[in-house]
Amino acid sequence: MAVKPPYPSFETPETMDDFFVAGRNLWPDLASLKDLKFDREQIPPEIVQFLRSTALNEHGVAHYLGAYFANYRNDFKLRFWSAMWTAEEYTHYIVLRRICQGLDADLTEKDFAGLEEGNYFENMMAYLERIKVDPSMDMRMLQLIYGVLQEYGAVIAYTAAAEQCGNPEIAALLKRVAKDEMRHCRFNQVALEAMLEHCSEGEKALVWPQFRAIWGDLEMPTEHIHYFSEIGATDLYTSLWDGEKRSKIALYLSRYFSKYRQYMNSSEII
Ligand SMILES: [Fe+2]
Ligand SMILES: [Fe+2]
Repeated sequence: MAVKPPYPSFETPETMDDFFVAGRNLWPDLASLKDLKFDREQIPPEIVQFLRSTALNEHGVAHYLGAYFANYRNDFKLRFWSAMWTAEEYTHYIVLRRICQGLDADLTEKDFAGLEEGNYFENMMAYLERIKVDPSMDMRMLQLIYGVLQEYGAVIAYTAAAEQCGNPEIAALLKRVAKDEMRHCRFNQVALEAMLEHCSEGEKALVWPQFRAIWGDLEMPTEHIHYFSEIGATDLYTSLWDGEKRSKIALYLSRYFSKYRQYMNSSEII
């Protein structure tokens, strides 16, 4: 492998700074969302369920940080981004929980207890090991490729929920969340691109097959915490990706990753 521990950070200073600055300007109105009130009868029950489970999931992102830190080792810039990203996902938790409270469908102690019982770290790490296309792959690369898929999946899920919720105020909030998720998706892309500038041709040749392997066996983070399947949230999340949406995800991701197919002809052996 070209990149060996201690995993020096690749240079993404402007990228990191741009994301940091943009992140600090998000949700200036967060405090004003405190006393939302909605008519629950207006909202389809599956959307209420989606809002509750994704609020819990966004709260659970704090758990996901462990796997990111493990895979980014001592690459401090990516660790720094992970912490920043987690804080932004926590903002989504606050927004979604306010909506749930406004719908009189707040999360319960049982929900939080179910989340805490999850064995996310071990399950996620086992999944990443299983789908890794090359045993010597730099885990940062795998985590960033997975991040592109995971975040774009979130974009589509929130966009679909906005379209189906039947309330313009909730729809506007969900679209803002989707916009943040697109930003997260883009960060993973630019970080991957910056990393690849420091990789061998052989390492670059792993990107396309790794994307294909993840897409062919995509497990969202919620699938690694048992409680989400118990409350029917795992299927619900992906059910918002109907045929049309699923095609859109496949098209977007294939278009993005197809530029890495060219490296597949590389004769270099890593
Ligand atoms: Fe989020
Ligand atoms: Fe996100």
